[in-house]
Amino acid sequence: MPTLKFVSADEKVDFEDYVDLTDMDDIITFGCRSGSCGICAVRIVSGAENLSPRTSREDSLFELLGEDSPAMRLACQSRAYGDAVLDEVN
Ligand code: FES
Repeated sequence: MPTLKFVSADEKVDFEDYVDLTDMDDIITFGCRSGSCGICAVRIVSGAENLSPRTSREDSLFELLGEDSPAMRLACQSRAYGDAVLDEVN
């Protein structure tokens, strides 16, 4: 069973086939949930290959913020399909 770990929150979540990170609202802080506010930004520590591809909304917001690390994701736009370790940024 895959596991999603959150470093700063010291939490882990086991799931079956996949999990939408929007379901992690007891761990991650969300605002707009539409990819425009950036409050749900997380940094991938490991397991990037097990997350859904970065969306154009994420690309646009991170470009606007001047953040060019491919490890940055918006949790409201992401789904995990396998093991990953994330660190909340905000
Ligand atoms: S909650 Fe606003 S960008 Fe994700």
